Amino acid sequence: MNPFSYGTVVRGDYFYDRKEECDRIVATLSNGNNMVLFAPRRYGKTSLVFRVIEQLEEMGHTCVYMDFLPVYSIESFVGFYLHAIEKKQNNLKRLVQIITNVVKNIRPKLSFDSNGNPEFGIDLTESIVSVQTLSEVLDLPEKLAQPGKKTIIIFDEFQEITKLNKYGFESLLRSKIQKQEHVNYLFLGSRTHLLNDMFNNKNRAFYNSASHMQIGPLPHDETIVFLQEKFGLSGIDIGTQLALYLIEQSGDIPYYIQLLAAEVWQYMITSQALVTKEIIDACVKRIVELKQDYYFELYDHQSVMQKQLLKALIQGGDNIFSANYTKRYRLSAASTTQKSVLVLMDSGIIDKTDNCYFISDPFFKRFLQNYAL
Ligand SMILES: Nc1ncnc2c1ncn2[C@@H]1O[C@H](COP(=O)(O)OP(=O)(O)OP(=O)(O)O)[C@@H](O)[C@H]1O
Ligand SMILES: [Mg+2]
Repeated sequence: MNPFSYGTVVRGDYFYDRKEECDRIVATLSNGNNMVLFAPRRYGKTSLVFRVIEQLEEMGHTCVYMDFLPVYSIESFVGFYLHAIEKKQNNLKRLVQIITNVVKNIRPKLSFDSNGNPEFGIDLTESIVSVQTLSEVLDLPEKLAQPGKKTIIIFDEFQEITKLNKYGFESLLRSKIQKQEHVNYLFLGSRTHLLNDMFNNKNRAFYNSASHMQIGPLPHDETIVFLQEKFGLSGIDIGTQLALYLIEQSGDIPYYIQLLAAEVWQYMITSQALVTKEIIDACVKRIVELKQDYYFELYDHQSVMQKQLLKALIQGGDNIFSANYTKRYRLSAASTTQKSVLVLMDSGIIDKTDNCYFISDPFFKRFLQNYAL
């Protein structure tokens, strides 16, 4: 089996490093603070948070994880949230009791499956959830909290809350969070700029409401050891310089490192024993070829300005609003670049760390190097 995994959350042997980050998040949350985690796409936020959950649960805390991505309305939020809360309750009778007492317009049901195992369900008496019901649902974690135990609510892809403008959801949630004594919150998401605005803009409800943490790429030393060990298990050798080369070709982004390593492993497993630069190059080429149709379409869909900016970003992404950059890459005015940046960031095509913009997918960048002349 391929020892490299990408695309979903990685756990166990597939996960390495992030110990410091993990310890800091665990300490912050268990000390009663809220936290927001920033990192560009595919840096390993969700995987890290799953590791954090394991540690917090070992300490006896209850962790409720909810992904905001599939949420499309207040009603769906209520459904997903109650389901996430329910998953972490070991006493369903108590849960039913508390929901009945706290949330007027939701009727929880407890039934039994054919094996006699209890099953939890809810009946929303309102087809459109009222602000009162939403408010009561948000009170639930505090009402459910057990003495001496903390509840940690984890909202992944939290920027998606902005889709739910109804009832000033953001302000309502913030006001609840401020009052809850036994519940802390961890927020994370892949649209860094939206999340940044939520937590750093004075006019937004979540301004100053959580301690910030940025996660960067995985350390090279650890990644090299990880690559060498994993390849080694299949009798494949990769020298330190070549492991570094693989990291570089993957844009130093955790997801793409695993993707390229998996491709190299696949290439090697039947015949070769020593990874060479030519093999890594061939694998990069193959990944780009496999995604070529998608990349063509993606590029074609961009406006002329966006295409120009993408071409410029192949060369570098520092000071992109400066007169110098505009002139060098024959871009229009900085205000036009600003608009292109927003569109490309919103669609996840580009990202930003510190003040440097970059094309999120290193293989799309590679494709553009050949195609976008
Ligand atoms: N600590 C790690 N050890 C090994 N691989 C990792 C690690 N962190 C991330 N990865 C790689 O990156 C991939 C994406 O990880 P994950 O889904 O946790 O990132 P994310 O930042 O939540 O992504 P998204 O922005 O898409 O939500 C994983 O499938 C794995 O290949
Ligand atoms: Mg994620």
